[in-house]
Amino acid sequence: MRAGHRGLDGPAREPNLCGWPSLGTKQPLATRAGLEELRDEPEMMWSQPRNEQENRHPSGGETFGDADQRRLFDNLAELVRRETGIALTAARKAQLLGKVRMRCEAVGCPDLRSYVQLLSSNAKGGGELEKLVSLATTNVTEFFRHPDQFDVFEKVVLPEVVSDKQTRRLLRIWSAGCATGEEVYSIAMILVDKLEGSRGWDVKILGTDLSRDALSVAERGRYPIGALKNVPRGYLLRFFRRAPEGDLMQLTEEIRRVTLFRRLNLMEPRYPLRRDVDVIFFRNVAIYFEPEIRRAVMFRISEHLRPGGFLVLGPAENLMDMRHCFEPLRANVFRKKRKKSR
Ligand SMILES: C[S@@+](CC[C@H](N)C(=O)[O-])C[C@H]1O[C@@H](n2cnc3c(N)ncnc32)[C@H](O)[C@@H]1O
Repeated sequence: MRAGHRGLDGPAREPNLCGWPSLGTKQPLATRAGLEELRDEPEMMWSQPRNEQENRHPSGGETFGDADQRRLFDNLAELVRRETGIALTAARKAQLLGKVRMRCEAVGCPDLRSYVQLLSSNAKGGGELEKLVSLATTNVTEFFRHPDQFDVFEKVVLPEVVSDKQTRRLLRIWSAGCATGEEVYSIAMILVDKLEGSRGWDVKILGTDLSRDALSVAERGRYPIGALKNVPRGYLLRFFRRAPEGDLMQLTEEIRRVTLFRRLNLMEPRYPLRRDVDVIFFRNVAIYFEPEIRRAVMFRISEHLRPGGFLVLGPAENLMDMRHCFEPLRANVFRKKRKKSR
């Protein structure tokens, strides 16, 4: 593990995050109390359907043990929805059901009730709740995903930011919902290349996500060769080395030292990080949220961007109520308006 990088389960405060305030890694789970309503469900078996027809759940083809079991799963799904903000469509609910079943098997719970008990237990409950919510997330990502946006980043955003910060030479970029880290490392490769090794600059790219599993992949910075197909050849040769194990490629220290990964649930009412971020990548996360949540999260995120800073949204996303605060560039990249001087 790198110096200054403890495991994601490490202490909540780290002395030197190079200007990024520490993000609590053991945040209280906002809706922990929601578990209460799961506790008093009647005893039920997870895998003994009495009547296939009667027990077919409206969200998909999966069957349930009985009506109570169905209700118990619905309560679990509601807990996940409140915890993550993710809109659980019928299809996503059906997917979640399959994953919860697999999770029950993995942790040795014979039925849903015992899984709920595990969730509610003091010793393991918090960690298991995190596991449960991460079952609902989609962590699909790739290096240089939506290449036109990286083109705008390199040719428009970066030169402007560098010129704005020429005196202070401090650059902060945040990837909110970074999944397994490819987005963060794509940004880092461009930065290190264009800033000639970032010498003389204090640069940090922070990746945050809800899923600890995704974040631990990001922290390792090791990817299968097949995942590097979109990485420009020059970057491939300069920034990757063959890892000791198998077909994996390891990002070099030059790239890793400008990156930082922390767990942050965007449903939290406040984000413990600086409010003068230069560029925020918030791509392909809001599309999964319900509209009201999307609106609130977009507002909170944009509060952390400095005036004149840049926001990069996924191609299918929009600014919701924040339109008046931004001017569009291209490829769904926006500049936050500076306050007019009187
Ligand atoms: C599809 S990935 C997007 C990855 C990357 N930004 C990209 O565009 O390639 C969506 C990520 O959002 C994360 N996510 C979903 N809900 C979240 C929440 N409430 N707080 C933080 N991250 C969340 C998921 O864990 C997942 O890794």
